Amino acid sequence: MGRLIKVANKSDLESGNGLCIEVDGRAIAVFNVNGEYFALDNTCIHRGGPLGEGFVDTVNCTVQCPWHGWIYSLQTGEATFNPGSKVEKFAVLVEGEDIKVEFD
Ligand code: FES
Repeated sequence: MGRLIKVANKSDLESGNGLCIEVDGRAIAVFNVNGEYFALDNTCIHRGGPLGEGFVDTVNCTVQCPWHGWIYSLQTGEATFNPGSKVEKFAVLVEGEDIKVEFD
C-alpha cells in the first residue's frame, strides 16, 4: 500500500463537482459522483487542460476537459473515445470527513 494523503474534506466537494489539488508538487483532480469519490491526474493528455475544472457527468461517471472537450472515465482514467490513452488514476479512501488519495 502507498502513502495515503488527505486532499480535501467531504464538505469541500459536492456531488457533480471536481477540485484541483496540488500534492507534493503534483496536480491531482478529485471528483464526487453521488457520494463516490475519484482521483485522476489533473492534466489532460491532449494539451494540459485542468480536469478538476471540467464538467462532471454523474450518470456516465466521466469528466469532460474544460479546454477542448476530451472525456475521461473517472473509474479508469481512460479517454472514452480513444481507448488506450489515459491519465493516471489514484485510489481514494474516505475516512470520516477526510478524502484521502493513495500515492506510490
Ligand atoms: S487540453 Fe483537454 S481536451 Fe484539449
